[in-house]
Amino acid sequence: MGKKIFICALVIWTALFYGTDVWAQGPYVPSEGNLKSREELTQHRLGIFLHWGIYSTYAQGEWYLSRGHLDPEVYSEAAGGFYPGSFDAAEWARAFKDAGAGYVTLTSRHHDGFSMYRTAQSPFNVVDATPFGRDVLGELTEAVRAEGLRMHYYYSLIDWIRPDYPKGHSGIAKDPAKADYDSYFEFEKRQIRELMEQYHPQALWFDGQWDHETDAVPFQWRMRELYDFIHGIDPDCLVANNHHRAIVEGEDFQIFENDLPGENKGGLSGQTVSTRVPLETCDTMNGMWGYKVDDLNYKSVPALVRLLVRAASKDANLLLNIGPQANGKLPELALDRLRGIGSWMKVYAPTVDGCGSSPIPPQSWGVSTMRPGTIFLHILDASALPVSGNQAVIVVPAPGKIAAVKSYPEGTALAWKVDKDQFLTVKLPVPDATAMDTVIEVTLK
Ligand code: GLC
Repeated sequence: MGKKIFICALVIWTALFYGTDVWAQGPYVPSEGNLKSREELTQHRLGIFLHWGIYSTYAQGEWYLSRGHLDPEVYSEAAGGFYPGSFDAAEWARAFKDAGAGYVTLTSRHHDGFSMYRTAQSPFNVVDATPFGRDVLGELTEAVRAEGLRMHYYYSLIDWIRPDYPKGHSGIAKDPAKADYDSYFEFEKRQIRELMEQYHPQALWFDGQWDHETDAVPFQWRMRELYDFIHGIDPDCLVANNHHRAIVEGEDFQIFENDLPGENKGGLSGQTVSTRVPLETCDTMNGMWGYKVDDLNYKSVPALVRLLVRAASKDANLLLNIGPQANGKLPELALDRLRGIGSWMKVYAPTVDGCGSSPIPPQSWGVSTMRPGTIFLHILDASALPVSGNQAVIVVPAPGKIAAVKSYPEGTALAWKVDKDQFLTVKLPVPDATAMDTVIEVTLK
C-alpha cells in the first residue's frame, strides 16, 4: 500500500513538474534521415550564430526592449527605420564558409516577436513592417546553402509584445487577463509550419523556456507536442532547446550556453551532458548576442580557436555568435575574427571537424581530439609544457597501440616511446610560448 501511494505521489509530482507530455506521447524514435543529419552536424565543429532583428537598430543588444523598459509601440517604430541597405547575403555566406563554418543559425524571431522572414501570421515582420521589404531570412538561407552550409533557425518561445503570450520573469508589463497560451501556441505552430514549408531548415533552435522557471505553478509549455508537430512535418529536421536542462524526448541535439558541456562558469550550463545526441555550445564573440555598438571587447582569434578546439575535445560544436548591424554589415571586428579563424581552419580543420573526445584526459597544456585511428594532441598553452634540455616533453596515458607520432601539419616524425606503465612520452621542439595551438598527430595501429 505504502509503495502504491509513493508511486502515485511520484507520478503526480513528475506531472506537475515536467508537464504530462513526458509520457503521454511515449518514446521518440528519430527517423533515419534525422540520425544522418545529427551525424552530419558533428562533421563541422564550427557554426555561426546570428542575432539580427530590429533591435540591431538600437545597437544595444537584443534585450533592449525589456532592459530599456520601452513602450512596445515606441520600440516597434524601429521596424520603420530598418533598412539594411548593405546586406549582401552572398557576401555573408562566403565569410562564414571561409571561416570554416559548416552551418548558420539565424534568429527567425527573437523575444521582441519580430519575424525576420515572410510570414502571414503577423504583420510585425521584415517584409511587411520595414521599408526594406525583403525576406532577409529567405535570402540568407539561399546564399548559405549555395555555399554548401546547413541552415538552422533560432525561434523564441517568448514574446514580449503579443498579449496572448503569458508574461514570464523577462520582458515588460502586460495585461494578465489577455494571456492565452493556447492561442499563442497555435500561432507558434502556424509560424513554424511556415518556416518549415518555406525554407526547410535543417534544425530549429528554441530558446526562452527559462522564462517561466520561477512560476509557482509549473508552466505547461507543451514542448513535446511541438516537437512531435515539427517531426510530423519533417522528421529529419533537428530540434534543440536552450532550456539549460538535460535533454527530453523529442530533442535531437543538446545546447549549452556560454560554457562547454560539463562546465558551468557562467551559471547557465550545469545540466547533465547527454551521451546520446550531438552537443553544441553557443557563445558570443564579445559580450552580447545582438549588435551592441559600444561592446568592442571581442575575444582574440587565439581565444576563439582554443574554444573551438576545447569544444571538439568534448564532442561539442561551437556556435559562435555575431550581431550584424542594422545597416546590413557584419561588424568589422567580427569579420576580423572570422578571417583569423578561417586561416587556422584552412590548415587545422581536419583536427576538429568530425573529431570528438579521445581517451587522453585534458592536460595542463591542452586537450586532445580524435577521429577513428588518429588522435590529435593540441598544445593550447605551451608555457605549461615541461621542458628538458632543448625539447618539450609530453607524457600522457597511451591511447592504444601506436604506429607513428608526427607534428601536424608538417608531418615531421617525433621521438616517442610507451613505457611499461602504458604512458606515452613524446619529445618535440619547444613551441613558441604564444603559439595558438601546436598540434601533434598520433596514428594508432
Ligand atoms: C539567452 C538570451 C537570448 C539569446 C540566447 C542565445 O537565452 O536571453 O537573448 O538569444 O541566450 O543563446
